[in-house]
Amino acid sequence: MKVAVTGGTGFVGSGLVKALQAAGHEVLVFSRDAAKARRIFPAATFPQVTTVTYTPQTSGDWQAAISGCDGVVNLAGAPISERWTAAHKRAMMDSRKVGTEKLVEAIAQAEVKPKVLVSASAIGYYGTSETATFDESSDPVKSDFLSQICQAWEAAALQVQDIEGVRLVIPRIGIVLGDGGALERMLTPFRLFAGGPIGSGKQWFSWIHRDDLVAVLMRALTDESMSGVYNATAPNPVRMAQACEALGQALNRPSWLPVPDFVIEALLGDGAVVVLEGQQVLPKHLYAEGFEYQYPTVGQAMQAVVNAL
Ligand SMILES: NC(=O)c1ccc[n+]([C@@H]2O[C@H](COP(=O)([O-])OP(=O)(O)OC[C@H]3O[C@@H](n4cnc5c(N)ncnc54)[C@H](OP(=O)(O)O)[C@@H]3O)[C@@H](O)[C@H]2O)c1
Repeated sequence: MKVAVTGGTGFVGSGLVKALQAAGHEVLVFSRDAAKARRIFPAATFPQVTTVTYTPQTSGDWQAAISGCDGVVNLAGAPISERWTAAHKRAMMDSRKVGTEKLVEAIAQAEVKPKVLVSASAIGYYGTSETATFDESSDPVKSDFLSQICQAWEAAALQVQDIEGVRLVIPRIGIVLGDGGALERMLTPFRLFAGGPIGSGKQWFSWIHRDDLVAVLMRALTDESMSGVYNATAPNPVRMAQACEALGQALNRPSWLPVPDFVIEALLGDGAVVVLEGQQVLPKHLYAEGFEYQYPTVGQAMQAVVNAL
């Protein structure tokens, strides 16, 4: 296959690009900075990777590169874990909403159209709750900013359904565990102090190991039976206290000293809401597909991440 990836230089995307190349596919990495992308994927090590400079929120010549691709994976978006100034909130929304609109526009214009668009969303779609359980049929929350972003992001992707022959898969991604992302920054207090429950510890932590997420994305590209929304989370969400205990055990450190909210906020900015408030999300549709997880429990996932550090 020839696969176009936006956000391919990121934490999730770089894992996907490596897996695609390892499986023998050709990859086009769409980046706002092709020189940066080339540094991440040097031609000597990544002969099957081509980088394409693009302006995600404006139409342009870059859109022609979508023609002839078999699949498109859309992962681009301004970081959540920063201070949410008015300007950054706009970037968080527009990079996803407008960026996805322009990608769908490119697919509509393509002479040779891709067969599938895999367009990311997040479990923030469901809002936060300490008591409710969410699956793919659960409703979004009107008043929650992260949910509003996910709704606009998904609505933009859904426009691809007007184009004949293009299958759409929307993974609603949970907190991704790997050597980077939120966990890398959560590790800091564990290294500095004893570590321990973050926030109240009672909030839900619906996570997925990055390798399992990459496997979901790879399968979505090739499995024609997959279509629509899939919660991309592990089958065993836990409360934050349990996640931190698993991390403490993996690091071989006691997990008893609560990490104050302000430490997490200093590390994750307003995006700390993702770990200070959570939601219990179940991957009902992946379960129905018979998806097999390499890391079904948080203990296995945390140990694998720590071993790889
Ligand atoms: N990691 C998680 O726990 C998690 C959880 C739920 C959902 N997600 C979603 O999954 C996607 C990938 O996550 P990730 O952790 O890999 O993110 P990431 O490491 O921050 O990478 C995202 C990529 O998006 C591009 N980007 C950054 N700012 C942008 C902007 N203003 N406009 C357009 N593109 C921009 C960058 O690529 P270039 O600089 O090369 O253009 C970057 O490599 C994101 O959309 C994220 O919201 C992630």
